[in-house]
Amino acid sequence: MSALVPFVDFKAHVAALRGELDAATARVLDSGWFILGPEGEAFERELAQALGARDAVAVGNGTDAIHLALRARGVGPGDEVVTTSISAAFSALAIQQAGARPVFVDVDPKTLNIDPEAAARAVTPRTKALLPVHLYGHSADMDPLLELARERGIALVEDACQAHGARYRGRPVGTLAGEQGLGALSFYPTKNLGAFGDGGAILVNDPGTAALLRQLRNGGQRNRYHHERFGVNTRLDELQAALLRVGLAHLAAWNERRRALAAFYTSELAGSGVEPLREQPYAHSVAHLYVVRHPRRDALVEALGRRGVSTLIHFPVPLHLQPAFAFLGGKPGDLPVAERATGEILSLPLYPELADEAARRVAFAVRAAAQEC
Ligand SMILES: Cc1ncc(COP(=O)(O)O)c(C=O)c1O
Repeated sequence: MSALVPFVDFKAHVAALRGELDAATARVLDSGWFILGPEGEAFERELAQALGARDAVAVGNGTDAIHLALRARGVGPGDEVVTTSISAAFSALAIQQAGARPVFVDVDPKTLNIDPEAAARAVTPRTKALLPVHLYGHSADMDPLLELARERGIALVEDACQAHGARYRGRPVGTLAGEQGLGALSFYPTKNLGAFGDGGAILVNDPGTAALLRQLRNGGQRNRYHHERFGVNTRLDELQAALLRVGLAHLAAWNERRRALAAFYTSELAGSGVEPLREQPYAHSVAHLYVVRHPRRDALVEALGRRGVSTLIHFPVPLHLQPAFAFLGGKPGDLPVAERATGEILSLPLYPELADEAARRVAFAVRAAAQEC
């Protein structure tokens, strides 16, 4: 059997950046400043600039980025937030954390992102916000959602945790709603911009909201020991901020490498029997994950495993059927597009350090395995 192709390769990632990471680490250790200092401030500035927002507020993880963005838009107990049924469960847990109730809707079969028409049907007088997720690095179809939010006077928070640098009709995701726009990012290590631990940020275009978010992430303090509101403790530390600044300088090149690998897979897998999700005309994807569909998914996963190709499933259970959300009353058959898709999808290895030769081996293995299944 040929060498294994891992799903991600953090050792190669660190090796490629080692000198820069060591220098950043030493800079923080020597500074003696570890929380809410100059590295975090510089990272926020550089991140906002790189991703086309006016400001960015760094927090401890992506879940808190969503949770605080919702709270900053006034979402709380008794409110409903309309979101997709295919995402990391953390998207919906953040709604829960804000005290509100997730309302899961079905997805567009072309992208597996939230179906805007299903979202419109789910809006009630209790709906306070929409939470589309730009899944797999590919933006949701945002124009109808922006229109829906405007018409109904509800907030829109973009979960861009998987979509650093993605665009929708040429505009960067995260702040598509202009002054009102808020976009949540996660820097979980596997993300396009990954930390070496947890991290997150909120992209924001309005200075008042940025100030509010800076209070909320730091225990609700206006200034030291004066707590104006109930905040949480979710600060990005200086070490992670300094390491993220290293990665941020490479993000555009990494995204290009991801896109090139995705294009390679798509052309190599034509006619193979697996169906890749395709980039839509309105989107500029950053290929966070490369997802294909196959009716005998589990057999295909096994056949690929035998050929040394690691795969994962993002995500195997739609959120309305997760036991944690059973109290909302979701049942099989409610969201048929999402339910069918979650039984057919698998993600292939795709990361900037993946060598051309390894990508060729993956494509070859998929073609052979699909024939067998
Ligand atoms: C779409 C999406 N939303 C939210 C999250 C939560 O981010 P974190 O793990 O940083 O809390 C993640 C990642 O785990 C994600 O992929």
